[in-house]
Amino acid sequence: MNAVIQDIDTATARVATPSPSVVPAAAPSTGRLLIDQVSIHLGQGADRFLALDSVSLDIAPGEFVCLLGPSGCGKSTLLGALAGHLQPTGGRLSLDGQPVIGPSPERGLVFQHHTLFPWLTALDNVAYGLKMQGVAKAERRARALALLQQVGLGGFEHRYPRQLSGGMQQRVEIARVLINQPRVLLMDEPFGALDALTRLKMQELLLDLWTRLKTTVVFVTHDIDEALFLADRILVMSPRPGRFIDELPVPAERPRQPELLTTPEFGRLKRHCLDLLRHPDSTLPLTRLTPLGLDPIAPADPSAKGVAATQARFAV
Ligand SMILES: Nc1ncnc2c1ncn2[C@@H]1O[C@H](COP(=O)(O)OP(=O)(O)O)[C@@H](O)[C@H]1O
Ligand SMILES: [Mg+2]
Repeated sequence: MNAVIQDIDTATARVATPSPSVVPAAAPSTGRLLIDQVSIHLGQGADRFLALDSVSLDIAPGEFVCLLGPSGCGKSTLLGALAGHLQPTGGRLSLDGQPVIGPSPERGLVFQHHTLFPWLTALDNVAYGLKMQGVAKAERRARALALLQQVGLGGFEHRYPRQLSGGMQQRVEIARVLINQPRVLLMDEPFGALDALTRLKMQELLLDLWTRLKTTVVFVTHDIDEALFLADRILVMSPRPGRFIDELPVPAERPRQPELLTTPEFGRLKRHCLDLLRHPDSTLPLTRLTPLGLDPIAPADPSAKGVAATQARFAV
C-alpha cells in the first residue's frame, strides 16, 4: 500500500451519520430477484460448454445472499447474467416481475477491481451516474458528497483514484453504484484484492450501508468466513458446471460483530461449508446440523440438504 496515502481503512475514521433525505432507502417491497432454472453455455463451437446447470433461486426484497463456490464454478457468470451482461441459454431471470434483458442502473455491479475513471475526482466519479441522468450539477455534487461521507470518505472528495488506497477506491466504487439507488447490488468478490484487515473493515461498512438502505445484495465469494459474516443465506455451488448444492440460512443476529468469527457455532457452519466444497458430489456423510443446537447428528441423509438442516442459533 502506498505509504503517502492516508488510509482510512486501517485508521480510526467512522462512517458518517446516515442522511436518509439524500439517499432514501429502497422500499423493502422492491428488489425481488427470481432465478428460474437458469442454464448458461459459454464458448464457441467445439469449445462450447455448460457453465451453469439449471439453477433456481428466489431472493426476497432486501435479502443479503452470498453465492459461495470454488473458482471457475460459474459465480461471475451468474452475476453477469443478473447484471444483464449475458443472456442465459435457458430459464428466466426477473427483477420485481420484469425480465432481465440488459444492463440497468437498477442492478448495480461492483467488481474486485474498481471501474472508476482515472481522470475524474472521487466526487465526479460518484456524481457521474447522475450526470448521465441529466441531474443538475449542484444537486448531483451534493448527493455525491453525502454518499462519500456515508462510505467514510468525507474530506477525500477531490482525490483522484490513484491518490486513494485500494480500500478507499472500493468505497468510491460502491458509492458510484449506490448513487443510482439500485434495487439490487451485485458484488463480485469486491474485497478479494484487499488485505485482511481492510477487507474486514469493508465488510462492516457494507453491512452498515445495507442495514440503512435495505437494498437486495447478491454477493459472490469463495471465502467461507466472508459469506458467513455477511449473508442471510448462503448458496453453495458445485464445481463447473455450477449448481446449487446446499442452501444455508445464517441466523446470526444483526448487527454482526467480528467476534462472531470466533464463536463455536460459526466454526461448525464453516466446517460444514468446507465439507461441501471439498466433497461436492461425494456420497461421504457430511456433518449435518440440527435445528437447535448445531450438534452433529447421524450421517447425512442426502435428501435432507437445505434449510431445515441448518437452522442454527448464534450467541455472540
Ligand atoms: N467468456 C467466456 N468464454 C469461455 N469460457 C469462459 C468465459 N467466461 C468464463 N469462462 C469459463 O467459465 C467457467 C466459469 O467462469 P466464472 O463464472 O468466471 O467462474 P467463477 O466466477 O466461479 O470463478 C470457468 O471455467 C471459466 O474459465
Ligand atoms: Mg469470478
